[in-house]
Amino acid sequence: MATSISTKVTTRDVSGLSLIAAHSHITGLGLEDNLQPKENAQGLVGQLQARKAAGIVLKMVQAGKIAGRAVLIAGPPSTGKTAIAMGLSQSLGSEVPFTALAASEVYSLEVSKTEALTQAFRKSIGIRIKEETEIIEGEVVEIQIDRSITGGHKQGKLTIKTTDMETIYELGNKMIEGLTKEKVLAGDVISIDKASGKITKLGKSFTRARDYDAMGPETKFVQCPEGELQKRKEVVHTVSLHEIDVINSRQQGFLALFSGDTGEISSEVRDQINTKVAEWKEEGKAEIVPGVLFIDEVHMLDIECFSFINRALEDDFSPIVMMATNRGISKTRGTDYKSPHGMPLDLLDRSIIIHTTTYTGDEIRTILSIRATEEEVELSADALALLTKIGQETSLRYASNLISVAQQIALKKRNSQVELQDIKRAYMLFLDSDRSVQYLEKNSSQYIDDSGRVTIGDKDFKHEASKPETESEAKPEAKPDTESETKPETKPDTEQETANGQPKDEDKMETD
Ligand SMILES: Nc1ncnc2c1ncn2[C@@H]1O[C@H](COP(=O)(O)OP(=O)(O)OP(=O)(O)O)[C@@H](O)[C@H]1O
Ligand SMILES: [Mg+2]
Repeated sequence: MATSISTKVTTRDVSGLSLIAAHSHITGLGLEDNLQPKENAQGLVGQLQARKAAGIVLKMVQAGKIAGRAVLIAGPPSTGKTAIAMGLSQSLGSEVPFTALAASEVYSLEVSKTEALTQAFRKSIGIRIKEETEIIEGEVVEIQIDRSITGGHKQGKLTIKTTDMETIYELGNKMIEGLTKEKVLAGDVISIDKASGKITKLGKSFTRARDYDAMGPETKFVQCPEGELQKRKEVVHTVSLHEIDVINSRQQGFLALFSGDTGEISSEVRDQINTKVAEWKEEGKAEIVPGVLFIDEVHMLDIECFSFINRALEDDFSPIVMMATNRGISKTRGTDYKSPHGMPLDLLDRSIIIHTTTYTGDEIRTILSIRATEEEVELSADALALLTKIGQETSLRYASNLISVAQQIALKKRNSQVELQDIKRAYMLFLDSDRSVQYLEKNSSQYIDDSGRVTIGDKDFKHEASKPETESEAKPEAKPDTESETKPETKPDTEQETANGQPKDEDKMETD
């Protein structure tokens, strides 16, 4: 396999999709050509400094000259850090790879932390490969397909020509399917990739233009090709290093054992691929396109991951690593040291830092109304005003989450527009983090604390998962009564953490 490394991709990775929904209104960074941010463009509002800075990073990435840099977006929760990263990814274009990863995903994948990170790094590096392929290009004269009565094998003939020659090709099943799928008719100029059998329709032949006077204006007319039917043509395609890794480790066969998942990829495979790619680069056959690896909630990484990143940034093939965090001075996981943003100082030292700041009322109102439009929710003026106030006093994300809740409440009343009342009700039903903390503090004895203590009725219990001995006497605390409005239990859906060591729902004592 050292000599033949395949770069043909059949499937695309779709990981990272979950990050997008909350940011679906964002289509770019909203900058002018000179990188000046517009107040409200491409779904982004305000946060001008940070957007301009992200624009500069974008230019650096597009220039493709530098790699191995780290950028940290730091700021309070709900101030658009993830949003700006998404805006940047939208502006990158399809050629430059962008990988989004929430730091906690590193731990949840079925591979080791470093393997998960290595894959993320290699997904973020594009290799633009020039290849010569053989194609057949010409104008279709006739397609003849014989269907056997038994419905068995199909057979056919394709007559195709250039201005200089005409040839008849026998068609197999696969080609017939391809031609049918592409709706190829006589008079079309097509190109067939000989290796893959892929058929591309280039347009209709000019010589047939008169036959098609009923055609729509979108019909493209092209000249009938000249010369030989079979040609060699240079094609350029971009794949990520990770994709090359996966394809080539599949060829070795051992991955069949892993139910089609990528699993761990051996370092030998990666070394061979690195060598080969470096060779291609020397020969001018390939170009390296460093992309962007975005690690959200980066404070969730531990010290081992951070030192991995530190080292990986120095690698020959390194993307630009963009990180986001809402932590201030806090402990780095896996250590007892406190440091800014919970990140080790050596990595912080390499990073350029972009700050996001809290929004003004006007900005919050604009963002909320963009979100409402995006979610196809009609808000009355009062409703938007209240929602804005909620956004200012709690968080933008909480207010934004209330939009769809309030819509459901309005729909129940068969109203198409969300009114002030609906927002009020939604606000009562779902706690924001501050009220949830207050509630917890008031009722702290009913929850299990860090040492496993909980009060049920007027008795103290020690929570032990293995021995639920409390069944006999404990009266059930009227707890999971979530629907009642007076005692809302459901914790708000804000992603921010409210207090450390706060008990999770699953930890609640089961008493029935
Ligand atoms: N400047 C902005 N323009 C438009 N929408 C924004 C802007 N800032 C934030 N939003 C939207 O507000 C919501 C919260 O923002 P986002 O998720 O980017 O916050 P964050 O800074 O990443 O917060 P956290 O630290 O909690 O991860 C998202 O739906 C986001 O799309
Ligand atoms: Mg975020």
